[in-house]
Amino acid sequence: MIKFNYKFADRMIVGSDNGLDIEKEFKSYKNKIADIIKDLNQRKDKPEQWLQWMNLGYNEETVWYVKEFASMVRGRYDNVLILGIGGSALGGIAVTEALLAPYWNMLTPEQRNGYPRIFFLDNIDPDTINGLLKVLDLKRTLVNVITKSGSTAETMSQYMIIKNLMEQELGDAYRQNIVATTDKKVGVLRQLADQEGYKTFVVPDDVGGRFSVFSAVGLLPFALVGIDIDEIMNGIKDMDLALKNTDIHENIAAQAALIHYLMDTKKGKNLSVMMPYSSRLKFVSDWFVQLWAESLGKEVDKNGKKVHVGPTPIKALGATDQHSQIQLYNEGPNDKLITFIRVEEFDTNLEIPRILEYTGIGYLGGKSINNLINAEADSTRVALSDYKKPTLTISIPKVDGYNVAQLLYMLEVQTAIAGELYNINTFNQPGVEQAKNYTYALMGRSGYEESAKVLQNKMAEVG
Ligand code: PA5
Repeated sequence: MIKFNYKFADRMIVGSDNGLDIEKEFKSYKNKIADIIKDLNQRKDKPEQWLQWMNLGYNEETVWYVKEFASMVRGRYDNVLILGIGGSALGGIAVTEALLAPYWNMLTPEQRNGYPRIFFLDNIDPDTINGLLKVLDLKRTLVNVITKSGSTAETMSQYMIIKNLMEQELGDAYRQNIVATTDKKVGVLRQLADQEGYKTFVVPDDVGGRFSVFSAVGLLPFALVGIDIDEIMNGIKDMDLALKNTDIHENIAAQAALIHYLMDTKKGKNLSVMMPYSSRLKFVSDWFVQLWAESLGKEVDKNGKKVHVGPTPIKALGATDQHSQIQLYNEGPNDKLITFIRVEEFDTNLEIPRILEYTGIGYLGGKSINNLINAEADSTRVALSDYKKPTLTISIPKVDGYNVAQLLYMLEVQTAIAGELYNINTFNQPGVEQAKNYTYALMGRSGYEESAKVLQNKMAEVG
């Protein structure tokens, strides 16, 4: 199991201005936390609670269909291309970057064991899209278009470009090269998929994009490139079981949620940094930033009162950002709670040769890079505590499917519990809608004429 250490956020280490009396807080929030955990687990099967993601670890049917499709297309494609944005892409990127061999797309087919390369087109930069299209042979590419709503402009514009090109190259047969992951009934993509006869997978009801990584949204891409999805499911189930424990002393997601909440509301730590000491986990931070920001950044609470809450998430990478952000974290304002992710055992070992012994770097010889990266994590944590800066540490035994699934699922539960502590709706994102509507208006979508006028007036005012 992954472990969680909060000692460096305690007032005994960082002083009472910046640290919490964690044991005392655990005692005083014991009942509230127990109630939150019970409530989440009771509501998770009810419709419109947006808690179906808590059941995804048990969705054997999806696993079966995903595996069946992945084995059917095995060997048929050189590339998998994922079209999607936000919650429809970030989980896939985080997990494939963590679990596939580093530089996967540069390996030979033999080194990839015959599995395809994987690309995520998660933005709409024309140069990048054109660049990727030059690299891919569309005849040998399986496109998985992922959008829960089925109408997201970024994803659907990519789809229109690629569908058009594929049809030109492949004729009617292009349909076999497209798989759609979307809502089971509604949305433009659902209609198109039904009309065109695409293979489809479902984003289940009551699973929001940012909580969808363990639905077909993530599982299909994972299986297509040979990631063991059973291992992932086992990780989620074991973590889910552990996090059903209503005792805060035994529940690491509840501990992390409460500490974040209190650090923000009592100690002014409204910036939340995620800093894995592992390049393979770098994109877990991107995924977490979206999860934390869209879930907790809210204008109103559940009673409709204006609250404007939400700690701002920041991504950092150890050891790289020791040479970038740590100066600010050590000496700058004491407004952050930093979470380190530490990997106990790397897949490989890399010794530093005993050379250059009589130079200033001779001390490195005979040690390993493995020692060095974890020594840097430890020393940064201690240095931050010298500056009275609170930190948390999540330790993961290995970067494998079981542990990465545990980590992501723990962070999802942590987010849900934090949302309850802030008393906000964790699962909506009204703040995203306004800009989306203006974009529709600017691009001439019918029904958005009024928004277009408002927008044009505002733009005219500022020039
Ligand atoms: O978490 C969310 O709900 C969002 O980030 C969505 O995933 C994102 O906006 C993409 O939406 P869709 O999957 O409908 O294309």
